[in-house]
Amino acid sequence: MPNAIISGTGFFVPPNVVTNHELAERYGIDTTHEWILQRTGIEARRFVDEGVGPSDLALHAAEQALASAGIRARDLGMIVFATLSSEHCFPGAGVHLQKKLGLCDGPDAPFVPALDVRNQCSGFLYGLATASSMVQSGNVEHVLLVGAEVHSHALDLSTRGRTVATLFGDGAGAVVVSASSEDRGVRGWWLGADGRHADVLSQKLWDIRKAPFIPQNAEGVGQLQPEMMFAQMDGKLVFRHAVERMIGSLFTAYSKKGLTHDDIDLFFFHQANLRINQYVADQLGIPHDKLVSNIQRYGNTTAATIPIMLAEASASGRLKRGMKIAMVAFGSGFTWGSAVVDW
Ligand SMILES: CC(C)(COP(=O)(O)OP(=O)(O)OC[C@H]1O[C@@H](n2cnc3c(N)ncnc32)[C@H](O)[C@@H]1OP(=O)(O)O)[C@@H](O)C(=O)NCCC(=O)NCCS
Repeated sequence: MPNAIISGTGFFVPPNVVTNHELAERYGIDTTHEWILQRTGIEARRFVDEGVGPSDLALHAAEQALASAGIRARDLGMIVFATLSSEHCFPGAGVHLQKKLGLCDGPDAPFVPALDVRNQCSGFLYGLATASSMVQSGNVEHVLLVGAEVHSHALDLSTRGRTVATLFGDGAGAVVVSASSEDRGVRGWWLGADGRHADVLSQKLWDIRKAPFIPQNAEGVGQLQPEMMFAQMDGKLVFRHAVERMIGSLFTAYSKKGLTHDDIDLFFFHQANLRINQYVADQLGIPHDKLVSNIQRYGNTTAATIPIMLAEASASGRLKRGMKIAMVAFGSGFTWGSAVVDW
């Protein structure tokens, strides 16, 4: 069985920086820089311009990841696209990225298959489990795994929506997962879900159990209430479960692989709240200098968060060949996961 190594990384965030101050000043949200910073660690996030979708952000990240892996898009055996904010309800974002990568062009177009993963903040780790299993099966040599989100166009950027709207930002991260005979790569992944809390953090937009699935007015025009349009969250409950599940998920990884945090060089925690991550680290005795974070600059970019961190840490030289890293995520569903990789 081949090993599944991460052979390339890339990321892209849109250039428009929106600071906490601007949320108050430009959007008129009744909030302050201090409130957001103290409770979450976020100082700024990026917002796309109108007309930009997650597959556009993903394209830049994917091109970088392919270049750093030293392969062409047509060498891919599979695209796995993790997002909660695909361009449309269906099809998912994967096929849009596939087309933008030129994989339908010309007489010998490879028509690389594209799979969509919908596991919100855990999407990258669910995707990594999928991609590495495909590679280890021997059926696929290279998988492009991307996480990309455009949150800003679906945030309630008003005081009514401030609890959710101040947390999220746009961005994309990508990795190439490749078959290798080298003794390194993905050593294990552990995933979990608790559907009892599916409503606690959700964006419903419609309810397909109802007929019609979106209420209509007398002219047959859909009518959406704000609580359907925008994500709803019980922040305190999410916080509690995130801490519990991230600690549990890391312990599972440790016990399955006979590791302690001394064996791990760097930790890539999902970036939902700096306080959650510092609390998890303190409970486990992980020194803070082993935590990689970017929530200060980007906010919560959901499925894009971990691959952006991997790409940034790799580009800056902080993440080096030979390191053992642990990744942990928790999010809507609830879903969670961890993975250990020898880089
Ligand atoms: C969202 C979160 C920062 C809110 O912090 P909190 O301490 O729980 O705050 P609360 O929601 O209890 O709100 C406290 C008060 O601050 C207000 N508030 C909420 N957001 C605010 C904002 N951005 N600016 C100013 N005030 C805000 C609330 O309206 C509330 O006011 P009230 O007491 O007058 O009703 C925190 O719960 C959290 O981070 N939870 C986890 C979220 C998460 O990780 N989500 C993604 C999972 S992948």
